[in-house]
Amino acid sequence: MKQTHFSFGDQWLADTIEASMTLSGSNSLRDRDLRHTLHSQTNPALHEQAGPFIIASGEGPYVIDSEGNRYLDAMAGLWCASLGFTNDRLAAAAAKAYDTLGFYHTFGGRASPSAITAAEAVAELVPINDARVFFATSGSEAVETMVKLTWLHFKALGQEGRRKIIARDRAFHGSTIFAASLTGLPHMHREFGLPLDGIVHVSCPDAYRGRHPGETVEDFVTRLANELEETILREGPETIGAFIAEPINAGAGVIVPPDGYFTKIQQILRKYGILFLADEIVCGFGRTGSWFGCDTMGIQPDMMAMAKGMSSSYFPISAVAVGPHIYESVKSINSGKTNFGHGFTNSGHPVGAAIINETIAIYRDMDVVQTVGRLGGRLMRRLQAIGEASSIVGEVRGRGLILGVEIVADKTSGAPPAPELDVLSRIDKYAKAAGIILRPQGNTITFCPPFVIDETQVDTIADVFEESLFKVESELRGA
Ligand SMILES: Cc1ncc(COP(=O)(O)O)c(C=O)c1O
Repeated sequence: MKQTHFSFGDQWLADTIEASMTLSGSNSLRDRDLRHTLHSQTNPALHEQAGPFIIASGEGPYVIDSEGNRYLDAMAGLWCASLGFTNDRLAAAAAKAYDTLGFYHTFGGRASPSAITAAEAVAELVPINDARVFFATSGSEAVETMVKLTWLHFKALGQEGRRKIIARDRAFHGSTIFAASLTGLPHMHREFGLPLDGIVHVSCPDAYRGRHPGETVEDFVTRLANELEETILREGPETIGAFIAEPINAGAGVIVPPDGYFTKIQQILRKYGILFLADEIVCGFGRTGSWFGCDTMGIQPDMMAMAKGMSSSYFPISAVAVGPHIYESVKSINSGKTNFGHGFTNSGHPVGAAIINETIAIYRDMDVVQTVGRLGGRLMRRLQAIGEASSIVGEVRGRGLILGVEIVADKTSGAPPAPELDVLSRIDKYAKAAGIILRPQGNTITFCPPFVIDETQVDTIADVFEESLFKVESELRGA
């Protein structure tokens, strides 16, 4: 009988975890983490005091920490594990793929059956006609691929000057140098001397926080559209290649642009021949209640970057879908028998591709659009009712199963909570103690649960959030 990678790994992993689960001693997992790991987006000094939060295993939408506590992760990890943290079908698909072909690539015209099938499946789903799909490994690489393709496209058209990219404040597009530069968050730039030249940021379409006193939502949208046009004219349209946006901005606290925003933005981009790059890394594959955030928000992109939900993050794999006009540019620029000068070792990895294929098959079998609409509608109704009853909820927003509750000092003024009161982290701590993982993002508590939860679990998320919120609210009243 053929030995699979997983049947060997299971026992080894169980023994290793058991052997190292002591909570003290220099060989505990905690101490080994503190000695050897540099954590992403973590304060090192605080981490040395608090120690790691070690997730040892998963069970559907639940994760279990090294002390045996079970949590329903209402953030699907990092907005990604849409099918939860264990899934028999994905595990079987991965095991079969590893047994068949543990690696191959896409350089020099190489392909594998699973990569071909995944490209076809993604191309059929995206709202780009006759799309072609390029695979990469991370969301950041997919974003940077879209930028390089923008430069290539305009070079092919004889418009080499069009190198600038317009991005938006508070957006997150990744951590590699150019993707971090596109990101509109100061802590991603500060100590790295970023952003690079050639990136221009415009306002975040946050109608709750960004409106001037007395300004209507319609006027706010017009102001942002005017800002974009003025920026293009100031920089020179002949210097601008593309505009990049998430359909719904996850990292800024689930900002849903107001009605009409993307219509006006796209009119201006078309007027000046600027490409629309959609960052679907969080929104893609059902999250917003449609297959893609572009469908939900009425965007017709030239290129789309996808990752996370595409494989439910069971493999580090991402993709870029491009329209025929971009593909024709790649072809024409290499008409002198040169190669497309881009690609990653693990582009189109056969195991990652097999996981994409099975993930998409599961989404189809569960009718992801209907499921997310139903569960998301229920969670939204519960959060709205909680928001109405609370004096420190300013706004409840979102689409599908990506939702945010903006916390304020008081509802009437809408003023943000005083930072020294730590209101959001207190809510978060109570929720975690009650077994629900949420995420404070700025002044918003965000919800992005796996799609494999049921109605009862939706209610548990809402109940725990409600209790945590009202506990903090009454502490604030007593303070
Ligand atoms: C919207 C968005 N774009 C890009 C990225 C970058 O993806 P990665 O961390 O895989 O490079 C992320 C990651 O969270 C994201 O949320």
